[in-house]
Amino acid sequence: MTLNLEHIQTILNARHFYYAAQNPPPRTDERWRLGFYTDFMLRHLTPSMRVLDVGCGKGHILMEMVHGFQYGLGIDNDPEHIQMAEEAKRAAGVTNVAFRLLEYPGQAAQLPAESFDLLMSIRGPLPDTLEGIQAAYRLLRPDGLLFCQEIGELHYQEVTEVFGRAQEAPEGSWSKRHWDMLQKNGFDVRLAADNLTKLYFRDIYTWFDYQCNLWTWLGVPLPEADDPRIALMAERHSNPAGEIALTAHVFWIAAVKK
Ligand SMILES: C[S@@+](CC[C@H](N)C(=O)[O-])C[C@H]1O[C@@H](n2cnc3c(N)ncnc32)[C@H](O)[C@@H]1O
Repeated sequence: MTLNLEHIQTILNARHFYYAAQNPPPRTDERWRLGFYTDFMLRHLTPSMRVLDVGCGKGHILMEMVHGFQYGLGIDNDPEHIQMAEEAKRAAGVTNVAFRLLEYPGQAAQLPAESFDLLMSIRGPLPDTLEGIQAAYRLLRPDGLLFCQEIGELHYQEVTEVFGRAQEAPEGSWSKRHWDMLQKNGFDVRLAADNLTKLYFRDIYTWFDYQCNLWTWLGVPLPEADDPRIALMAERHSNPAGEIALTAHVFWIAAVKK
């Protein structure tokens, strides 16, 4: 496939940041989807609950659930994301949510013990380390709820196949590893679900733009405009409509504090 190198270079020259990666969002195949995590979590919220979102990003997840709880706190270590969250909160006139710049789990000790009914982390740092899980245990009230969405080992396997893995990955099933860590550290795991679907990017350029934002955020050097792997990606993973089809793999893990 012949690519328009000027177009690729324009994409490479643009400023890349995490949330630009989701604009425009790719088309999703809805068949067999479990649904969206916010809808699922809303079913488990009660109006008196205090909720902590670890790695809250631009704060949209708490803001979507704002009518389901009493108080929500979002923490993130990226000042730009916290600023976006503050702006969204002001624009929406929401009063029962706060956002704080805070490194997790290093600075989690600043938050009072047993002060939350539900902790969530949507592709955030909470379940990545033993310290993260121990900090969650301290922050949750007894019998409190924990919900995490994590990236699975098959996520964007088409990109990995062509470009190699962007980050080091643990061996074996990632969800099993998280299950083990939670179960051994005071949590009773109630849900561990691998969710796979297909995402369709309009064309190779739309995908490449998305991917450059993601690579930059992950600290992965961007390829040169004439890197043959970009054309290879188009050849291998275009569908008949010219869309780039990628596998999305996330897993949900939800637990109760013992
Ligand atoms: C993949 S993004 C997901 C953001 C948001 N949960 C969402 O779904 O849009 C991960 C977020 O976690 C934040 N983060 C990563 N490591 C962190 C840490 N150690 N402490 C606090 N926030 C962290 C990042 O800044 C980023 O906003």
